Amino acid sequence: MKTKMVRTAIFPVAGLGTRFLPATKGTPKELLPVIDKPLIQFAIDEARAAGVERMVFVTHPTKSAIEHYVRDDAELREALKAHGKARLAHELEESALDESSTEVIFVMQNEPLGLGHAVLCAKTQVLPGPVAVVLPDDLILGEPGCLSEMIEAYATCSAKHLVAAMEVPRELTERYGILSVTSQEGQFFHADGVVEKPAPAKARSCLAVIGRYILDPSIFSDLEAQAPGAGGEIQLTDGIARGIDRLGLAGFSISGHRFDCGSKVGMFEATLFVANQNPIYAEVLRRYCAAP
Ligand code: G1P
Repeated sequence: MKTKMVRTAIFPVAGLGTRFLPATKGTPKELLPVIDKPLIQFAIDEARAAGVERMVFVTHPTKSAIEHYVRDDAELREALKAHGKARLAHELEESALDESSTEVIFVMQNEPLGLGHAVLCAKTQVLPGPVAVVLPDDLILGEPGCLSEMIEAYATCSAKHLVAAMEVPRELTERYGILSVTSQEGQFFHADGVVEKPAPAKARSCLAVIGRYILDPSIFSDLEAQAPGAGGEIQLTDGIARGIDRLGLAGFSISGHRFDCGSKVGMFEATLFVANQNPIYAEVLRRYCAAP
């Protein structure tokens, strides 16, 4: 069942991508491809499949290539057709957002003040109701898409903030928001707290927040009141934590495969996973693995 309750998806894409230098010196990390498909396209396709009406990209003036990529390029399509490449032109049209059915908005986050601040930058652009937040460098592959799965689950969840979650090794808690879990109900992990990047010894669980969120719209006023936290940044997890008593919080154990494509190892794993599903690339992989 598709519900229209979540009408807006926010894509925070202003980050510097330092974990992927030098590639990200010239190319925004969201445009790095898994074989031939940029990370942002996976995120757009996931949100489109989930039926969101408006996509708000929070970006940085130096990353104009993202807007260029996201907007349809009719001239390029015409040029491809004129050169007998109608199939490629059609593929481009399919992947482009149809702005007559999905609204596309770009807002700037001029300073790197944190993920919470990035989400706050979208405040005046969202439609009424809960909002989805999608971090494109957390690539989640699966059917149905993670956002579709979460939106459906959200309709049945008592908590008003729902975050994607997965178990991580304890030594990695310092990389994630970590939930304080109080009870489990199917795929829902109810929580009475969430802490950004706790040291392994201090982490209340090993259940980490990953880059999909469905948030009550009061997140914006909570973020406005939020002082900088871990790393001196305004953290989304801190804004979420502020609302827990009022709204409840649950982690949703996702069904798909998640890859940390902000890291070189994660991107490499995602590439192998996708390659293995395509007969042409799978054959290349097999040859390489068999090579002495
Ligand atoms: C962000 C969030 C963190 C979350 C992570 C998931 O951290 O702040 O809570 O666990 O994404 O990828 P970042 O990776 O931007 O440091």
